[in-house]
Amino acid sequence: MKVITIIGARPQFIKAAAVSRKLRKSMDEIIIHTGQHYDENMSKIFFEELQIPKPDYNLNIGSGNHGYMTGNMLIKIEEILLNEKPDMVLVYGDTNSTIAGALSASKLLIPVAHVEAGLRSFNMAMPEEQNRILTDHISKLLFAPTQTAVNNLYNEGIKKGVVNSGDVMYDAVLFFKNLASEKSRILDRLGLNYGEYILSTIHRAENTNSKERLKNIIEALSESEENIVLPLHPRTKKFLEEYNFKFTENIKIIEPVGYLDMIMLEGSCSKIVTDSGGVQKEAFFMAKPCITLRDETEWVETVDNGWNIITGCDKEKIIKAIKYFKPERERENHFGDGNAADKIVEVLKGGF
Ligand code: UD1
Ligand code: UDP
Repeated sequence: MKVITIIGARPQFIKAAAVSRKLRKSMDEIIIHTGQHYDENMSKIFFEELQIPKPDYNLNIGSGNHGYMTGNMLIKIEEILLNEKPDMVLVYGDTNSTIAGALSASKLLIPVAHVEAGLRSFNMAMPEEQNRILTDHISKLLFAPTQTAVNNLYNEGIKKGVVNSGDVMYDAVLFFKNLASEKSRILDRLGLNYGEYILSTIHRAENTNSKERLKNIIEALSESEENIVLPLHPRTKKFLEEYNFKFTENIKIIEPVGYLDMIMLEGSCSKIVTDSGGVQKEAFFMAKPCITLRDETEWVETVDNGWNIITGCDKEKIIKAIKYFKPERERENHFGDGNAADKIVEVLKGGF
């Protein structure tokens, strides 16, 4: 069986690392990197650290408006699919690379398998929500990470091909955490002690593209007076420069880090403040209280379980949560048993 995997953005490299390791034992895999993320610390570092095979194709799409990116990806992916004639196409998550990969394949009647299907924020203003709904509706196999995701698909009338596989990001954390403890020197490098800092990431378009929202978030982090480590996504860097925002000394800005350093930072912090989807879940996996800088989340289990609090960009709410938010309950496991990739490969082997 010949599978073409299409990835392009940071979280997709991590998800694909978990699946490709298993997939390649029984199938031929060709990897297309769209080039959506291209800085070394947004792309190459993940391929090296996580031993993802070098992409067979790099489309070098780079950055741009949604239409530019998605359109150019469609043109180039279609050409490769016509030449390679795969049995199926595998896509991950909800980025522009996801919808471009799924749509190119679907129009050529090549079956699409979607890993992380069924996630919904019910906020169609998010580009990710548009990407994931469209992708789910043209996929033949839908690997849902949670029961909530399965229910979301059922509610949209998608029942055939839906599999509750568990979450491949949970697989990844379990698989790489020992390697992270062994290899990562990030705490020493930044002079950090266990439990004595808060980790933050910000990159969501709804936060960065709004001067008001970003200002509230930065002010909240500053006024909390906590020791905060902020690996800065290039999108956020660009907007901070444009708005000319300055940081107070309690915030340590660093370049984006590789996955092993990131797991180390997550596992050793006291709390996490983020608008990332993946980082919210990793906070949960590592039993760290999470403060989510969004108005809603797809990962509702983490909130229902009391380990994640939604503050939006309300400055006072963020400050209060940083100071006082404390989960009261034990975590329940909603994300599978760490073998999501095995389950996915087993189903893929069965074909469509
Ligand atoms: C994308 C995804 C988002 C995901 C995120 C993961 C879409 C619509 N969004 O958002 O769902 O959560 O990736 O990180 O697909 N840039 C660089 N170097 C890079 C990559 C980006 O400088 O290697 C800068 C460019 O200025 C670019 C901006 O970041 O315009 C945004 O990049 P883009 O890939 O469009 O969206 P992300 O915000 O990264
Ligand atoms: N991540 C990383 N280095 C960083 C920031 C994030 O390795 O500097 C990892 C993080 O651990 C998680 C994934 O990237 O596995 C999340 O990606 P991101 O926040 O970019 O996107 P999202 O999950 O919101 O789509």
